[in-house]
Amino acid sequence: MANVIVRPPWHLPDSAVTPESVYHRRRDFLRAMGFIGGGLAVGLPALAQSTNLAKATAFSAGKRNPDFNPTVRLSDEEAATHYNNFYEFSTTKTRVRDLASRFRTDPWTLEVNGLCENPLKLGLNDLLQGFPHEERVYRFRCVVAWSMVVPWSGFPLAQLIAKAKPKAEAKFVAFTAVLRPEEMPGVVRLPDYPWPYTEGLRMDEALHPLTMVATGLYGKPLPKQNGAPVRLVVPWKYGYKSIKSIVRIEFTAKQPSTLWETLNAQEYPFESNVDPQVPHPRWSQASERVVDTGERIPTQYLNGYADLVAKLYPKRKV
Ligand code: MTE
Repeated sequence: MANVIVRPPWHLPDSAVTPESVYHRRRDFLRAMGFIGGGLAVGLPALAQSTNLAKATAFSAGKRNPDFNPTVRLSDEEAATHYNNFYEFSTTKTRVRDLASRFRTDPWTLEVNGLCENPLKLGLNDLLQGFPHEERVYRFRCVVAWSMVVPWSGFPLAQLIAKAKPKAEAKFVAFTAVLRPEEMPGVVRLPDYPWPYTEGLRMDEALHPLTMVATGLYGKPLPKQNGAPVRLVVPWKYGYKSIKSIVRIEFTAKQPSTLWETLNAQEYPFESNVDPQVPHPRWSQASERVVDTGERIPTQYLNGYADLVAKLYPKRKV
């Protein structure tokens, strides 16, 4: 069974997938024309009509960081933006995009508070322009054993934490997603869930340079279904740790509760590191299905980032 290739409904043959080099040539062209991250975009009538003009002008994907550019093939953008987990909208991955289309992501305020010297209230422009953005290609592994490889734009969470100046007693970082039942049909359909969606990290995990605040995907502002306007990306942990549409970051002394851990601590524990040797109580984590090709590949310890983060988990023998 392990070698059977499961084709999802939106499967594209490899021949239809944009090779990475073509994707970059196309981006270079668009940037030269002023469509990506440039001032010229302001003058273009097509963009001027865009309801997202403020975001389109402020967002800059940043240069790709060569240190985070695995030699594996990028997942197809269509798959990454049409196959989403965002339970506030729907538990059906292929419906999230449509159901999120009326979700308001501008204006936005991200509050940073709790045990820190310098609490912050960051608006969209503070997030987009107050931190130098770069692009990083990360592997992304969901707990239910699908995976993809995508280019995120953003900055290390450590930079934001530094601005807030956490106190010595702050040992954890708690994250809270926006909750607007009037715009989020999934919340209404799941009244027993402990909303809002919450997540958390240990302080050393939050400060690790791999941990990223993302505002973009594939060189564009984050699509709503992928967590606009600002989300977390923790590539060595199962995807549910990467909380979308964040409105609050709080420094705490105690380990914060999280939505998934509250629902089922045995199946979705706080730590949730990708580990092929630790099966989920209901399925193996030894392999994963690549979302756009359906190929099944072995899962790597810490999702392939063991050289960078294994030292955070000295008790686990590699
Ligand atoms: N964040 C919020 N607010 N709500 C969610 O339901 N789902 C998580 C995570 N962040 C989720 C969330 C899960 S289970 C996964 S696998 C990833 O988002 C999926 O991210 P993607 O849709 O961008 O691939």
